[in-house]
Amino acid sequence: MQKKALITGVTGQDGSYLAEHLLDLGYEVHGLVRRVALEDPQRRFNRIEHLLDRVTLHAATLESYPSIFRVISAHKFDECYHLAAQSFVAESFSDGFSTMNTNINGTHYMLAALRDLQPTCRFYFAGSSEMFGKVPEVPQKESTPFHPRSPYGISKVAGFDLTRNYREAYGMFCASGILFNHESPRRGFEFVTRKITSAAARIKHGKQNELRLGNLDACRDWGHAKDYVRAMHLMLQHDKPEDFVVATGESHTVREFCELAFGEVGLDYRNHVVKDDRLYRPAEVELLVGDATKARTVLSWRPQSTFKDLIREMIQKDLALTAGSPINQL
Ligand code: NAP
Ligand code: GDD
Repeated sequence: MQKKALITGVTGQDGSYLAEHLLDLGYEVHGLVRRVALEDPQRRFNRIEHLLDRVTLHAATLESYPSIFRVISAHKFDECYHLAAQSFVAESFSDGFSTMNTNINGTHYMLAALRDLQPTCRFYFAGSSEMFGKVPEVPQKESTPFHPRSPYGISKVAGFDLTRNYREAYGMFCASGILFNHESPRRGFEFVTRKITSAAARIKHGKQNELRLGNLDACRDWGHAKDYVRAMHLMLQHDKPEDFVVATGESHTVREFCELAFGEVGLDYRNHVVKDDRLYRPAEVELLVGDATKARTVLSWRPQSTFKDLIREMIQKDLALTAGSPINQL
């Protein structure tokens, strides 16, 4: 029997890779998208343009329970991957209220609608290493206590708790992935990795002179989004609903990322990167490095891309983009 999956946030980095992965596995894939996206497909669907004839899209928004209820009442799904969120940490400091509304209520609406309409549908929640925040131990694993440092992190802890509560209270198959940073050529330009690779490519082509960055000493455990969506799928195939850390186990500073990315195009980042205090966050997560032993042993999950492979791929695609390739070829 062909399985049917619903992906919220299908237009995002992870949603697009997950849709590809599930289609490859033979799934019927449905995506929840905002009405504005349906009205502006050329710009808003650039990550899924190549999939549009193979996925079914439904208009809904995380701010509206009725819109979610309508989609879930019209189709029977076997699996639901809830990826949609306001995902930019810095923005959550500027507007914590809308981040909370979207991320917490949106998750609650999804869970409540599934409970009412399709309690046997398996549910994946996109938890984040940002939940660990001010880390009490290194590396971080499933048992590490949360100490979020941003409205975004707080909203993800709430989503994680809601997901666990629906599992415990109603016996639903609800699992959270605690995913560490993952990147790709499809990463949004506001995130530091893409900001760096696109700037390095533009500087190489003479289209930009400098790159302004905030904290260069923050450490992140960066993996490839393609590898991480495989873990999401594996979590929902497991025989029981559990939470899993997904990480590479390697941590690098933003400075190291700059050094390698600029090095890929034959430049020295020190000649181009300008430190800008305005880009520092009111509270920073200084060090993230994950221990994915549980995902490796229980799910047999392994990342395939290395840190260097990831940077090389992002730089190559940004060089092509800067030289004029259409964005949808990423
Ligand atoms: P992303 O590229 O920013 O994508 C976010 C998606 O959410 C987009 O499809 C966006 O739709 C949708 N969305 C935002 N607000 C919405 C709303 N009000 N109603 C409906 N849809 C809405 O994020 P990502 O990197 O793919 O991450 C996917 C999920 O994993 C997010 O929940 C993120 O917080 C979480 N996560 C990411 C990472 C990471 O390193 N990438 C790590 C841990 C957890 P539009 O296209 O219409 O804006
Ligand atoms: N975005 C950005 N822009 N970050 C900068 C800059 C800059 O100019 N300069 C330094 N940084 C530092 C940030 O302070 C942070 O320590 C680090 O670079 C990474 O920032 P982001 O790429 O914005 O990612 P993030 O770690 O805050 O959040 C991402 O990963 C989380 C998982 O830990 C997002 O994808 C979240 O949605 C995800 O949950």
